[in-house]
Amino acid sequence: MVKVSVYTVPQLDDFSADKIESAVLELLGALHEEREAVHSEAEWKALRDRWLARKNGLLTQVNDTWLKAAPKEAKRDVGLRVNELKVKVENVVEAARWASLDWLKPPNDMKFLFAVSGVRLRDHATARLESERLDITLPGVKRPIGVKHPVLRVQDEIVAVFKAMGYSVGEGPEVETDYYNFESLNFPPNHPARDTQDTLFIAGQESKLARDRLLLRTHTSPVQIRTMEKQPPPVRIVIPGKVHRNDPLDATHSPVFHQVEGLAVDTNITFCDLKGTLDDAMKALFGSSVKTRFYPSFFPFTEPSADMQVSCIFCGGKGCRKCKFSGWIELLGCGMVDPNVFEFVKHNGYDSSKISGFAFGMGVERITLLKYEVEEIQLFYEGDVRFLEQFA
Ligand code: DAH
Repeated sequence: MVKVSVYTVPQLDDFSADKIESAVLELLGALHEEREAVHSEAEWKALRDRWLARKNGLLTQVNDTWLKAAPKEAKRDVGLRVNELKVKVENVVEAARWASLDWLKPPNDMKFLFAVSGVRLRDHATARLESERLDITLPGVKRPIGVKHPVLRVQDEIVAVFKAMGYSVGEGPEVETDYYNFESLNFPPNHPARDTQDTLFIAGQESKLARDRLLLRTHTSPVQIRTMEKQPPPVRIVIPGKVHRNDPLDATHSPVFHQVEGLAVDTNITFCDLKGTLDDAMKALFGSSVKTRFYPSFFPFTEPSADMQVSCIFCGGKGCRKCKFSGWIELLGCGMVDPNVFEFVKHNGYDSSKISGFAFGMGVERITLLKYEVEEIQLFYEGDVRFLEQFA
């Protein structure tokens, strides 16, 4: 039980309005403290008797020590104050009764007490009520709602297009080994991409075997091998992710950017499947009037390899500044998975005499630049809200 110091009615030697006021406040403060300690009906009864008992209750004492002792000229005022006080004390005691009933406990008994009694207590409780005061006429705090970054939005959109075709979604590490990033993708040992010009290697690994050296992946293609190591054919997967190159920043290049990789392996996968799949995906991304065409190209991990171009989304193929008056825009690399790549995962069911596959890889920033007609890639990384909020 809470220990409460017991209040006794003080003698007044001065009956000025100020003195009475402070005595009244002290008394109400004491009443509040005692009332806070009431947790059962029995305790409430003790409180009631102490304050309201005719014979020697505190209110009777107030009557005797304040009113009766007041000098003639102060009697009227003191009488008014004592009557006011009486009503307040009765209200508080009555409120405490309800609050003492377990089944009727108000959520915040101080507020309840305040509301029922109309008492203005200037002690700590009052302070709490003051601090919790709400001005409901003030306008609320507006929190701006964020939106998905345009690059991630387009990345998600690309992934969703392939998911709708039955592809699953995978991921791989950004810090990769030379083996996954190059060797198992059929890059010859001294391929220029391995050169420190393009690839960011982790420092201090001279003592490691070349294939174990860590680097920041330069493309999402290593996840092709990682996927095939874990899962036998058939495979249909898209892999979105961040890649890094030692490229200087210009209007269309950034040393950190995003790619979405794709891989499909099964029996009887042909170049026609590759063309049909990518044509469908481009129509879903850019609109059904967009056309695709495939140009011979070279990648170490695909054979044959192609660059896929889309009809210029700005001029519809007539020729404009954006497509350098060719009517076509180069968008991604693709091809049929090279049998040399399957060799690295042969043990997991990838026998190139029985299965075949296609792969593709596209730059997400590049597609976003085209889709939203953004002039400079830097705008994606500067975090300028005035730019980003246009995608809300
Ligand atoms: N990895 C290539 C790059 O970063 C893109 C690429 C080309 C991915 C052909 C592929 C592919 O899967 O088949 O430029």
